[in-house]
Amino acid sequence: MYTEKVMDHFSNPRNVGEIENASGVGTVGNAKCGDIMRMYLDIDETGVIQDVKFKTFGCGAAVATSSMATELVKGKTVEEALKITNKSVMEALDGLPPVKVHCSLLAEEAIHAALWDYAEKNNIKIEGLEKPKSDIHEEEETIEY
Ligand code: FES
Repeated sequence: MYTEKVMDHFSNPRNVGEIENASGVGTVGNAKCGDIMRMYLDIDETGVIQDVKFKTFGCGAAVATSSMATELVKGKTVEEALKITNKSVMEALDGLPPVKVHCSLLAEEAIHAALWDYAEKNNIKIEGLEKPKSDIHEEEETIEY
């Protein structure tokens, strides 16, 4: 049911780990399945994402989509990274089974949450970035079922 690319990113995920003193960290979760994804961004002073790492406690599709998402954001500017959607992550993986589409949303939300954290830390506003809904720092989101 998974494409070769999904299987590849699932069995050999890229950019797994943490970044100490990251410019932005975003943690998001899916209340229904309980899966959690954390994304770390290292952004230089010109706004280019120099490094990215992730940790996922989740299903195979969540691992594969976060791995692909990190590949897509690396080297991009903050504005370019903001344009990466769950659709573009899925396309880059040659598709996901319909029941697994929600897993790719975690990847998009994790990028947004990390960018939000970066913007807050630096007291800047990123045009078009909205506060991620499932950021699990938001207590009320995590207790909703
Ligand atoms: Fe929850 Fe995939 S089943 S993220």
